[in-house]
Amino acid sequence: MHLVRCAVVTLASGFLIASWAINRAGAVNTIKEREPELARAHDDSNASIDFSEFNTVSPHMLIGQAAGQEDKPVEQTRKNIQVLKGLPDSQLFTVMNFMRASLGVSCAFCHVNSGGDKWEWEKDDKPEKQAARRMIQMVFDINKNNFGGAHRVSCYTCHRGAEHTVNAPPLPQVAPEGGPGGEKPAATLPTGEQLIDKYWQALGGRVAIEKAKTRVLKGSQIASSNGSSMPFEISQQAPNKFAIMMTTPQQAVIARGYNGTTAWMKTPRGQRELTGADLEQMKQNADFFRMLKLKELSKEMRVTGKDKVGDREAYVLMARIAPTHIERYYFDTQTGLLLRSITLEDSMIGWIPEQTDYEDYRDVDGVKMPFTVRQSYVDPWVGWTRKFTEIKLNTPVDEKKFELPAAK
Ligand code: HEC
Ligand code: HEC
Repeated sequence: MHLVRCAVVTLASGFLIASWAINRAGAVNTIKEREPELARAHDDSNASIDFSEFNTVSPHMLIGQAAGQEDKPVEQTRKNIQVLKGLPDSQLFTVMNFMRASLGVSCAFCHVNSGGDKWEWEKDDKPEKQAARRMIQMVFDINKNNFGGAHRVSCYTCHRGAEHTVNAPPLPQVAPEGGPGGEKPAATLPTGEQLIDKYWQALGGRVAIEKAKTRVLKGSQIASSNGSSMPFEISQQAPNKFAIMMTTPQQAVIARGYNGTTAWMKTPRGQRELTGADLEQMKQNADFFRMLKLKELSKEMRVTGKDKVGDREAYVLMARIAPTHIERYYFDTQTGLLLRSITLEDSMIGWIPEQTDYEDYRDVDGVKMPFTVRQSYVDPWVGWTRKFTEIKLNTPVDEKKFELPAAK
């Protein structure tokens, strides 16, 4: 199984935000092509490497299978796998980045780099790699023996972004409120339904939102890795048609679309229909009114508490969509607007997060829309920020845009 990636984004706000996620669907290259790129990204002397073509899709899709290729377990595709047996190859780099991020290190902390692009991933020369293997096994055992196999403890639980763990609470200590017998009063929280209602109100109300039948968004996508910028145009038509076109700094055009039945992608290397998880992703991205269905889509929906997003305070709504897929929505406690959404996808090593931040809400024909959307992954080389320069509602859209272009 390939991480089935439901765009948070999408769910998050159906109509409104749905589409910013868009084009994460579609593997554009194979593992073989990806590795040198990844390696180069680690080499500062080559820091200007252009990732632009890749940062429209998320990491595991990048390194995932070429069209139609089977997602084999890593022990069949890699040279020296001892503990991660059964992990789908499409998830390997994401899982490695999860470990890297959990410890706050680079790949070279565990892996041998013999200069520039030359990585010898399979080598066990570094004691850190061997320690990591023991740690992976330990995490498997902790979860199996204490949490019925659920992935409750991960590398991050103990390491919290640092190589070394902390095993004593900090001093001085502040006395608990109410003394030794004091208990925190239970916070009164709104329900999920209330948060979603307030969100729709904050956006401009259901009437204004449902009146919108098409939407066209223009702007630029800025790569987190190197700041390069790609202009794009997104077209949407209710209930579920969707297309995006981007121009790379090399003037190559990448496009993706969904016409309500067929999803496709087109790059200078060719075009193809999207199937499986990629198709599912496109469907979700294309759904104008996904957020309205969040309750029906969820097996469980619960407000878990409050948290901070930047300097704003937010209620956190947790939605369990599937046993291996959880989403979290952060709604501003004051304005009711969605500030952040996170999807968590289960993997052998823990729940892998992907985060979308929504900023700079402005009014477009009576509907509030975020003009800055930021996408972050455990793989820091593929995130991006979209800045919209123009958003138009109910502007005519050429239906042809949603169709797979005729092959040349
Ligand atoms: C904390 C240590 C650690 C870090 C950091 C780390 N890895 Fe790994 N990596 C491992 C371990 C351990 C294995 C072997 C797993 C096993 O035996 O099942 C491995 C295996 C691999 C393999 C498969 C090698 C083979 O052919 O057998 C690749 C590829 C890889 N890592 C890439 C990366 C990349 C890319 C990064 C940085 C994004 C990274 N790793 C960061 C510990 C690490
Ligand atoms: C239950 C807590 C816990 C978990 C979970 C955990 N570690 Fe550790 N880890 C430790 C402790 C404790 C040490 C040794 C003391 C120290 O350096 O903090 C350590 C040390 C390490 C080291 C050696 C560091 C060095 O400087 O040589 C590596 C590498 C490491 N952990 C990787 C991982 C990885 C990868 C995971 C997830 C697969 C993980 N750890 C999960 C507690 C944990």
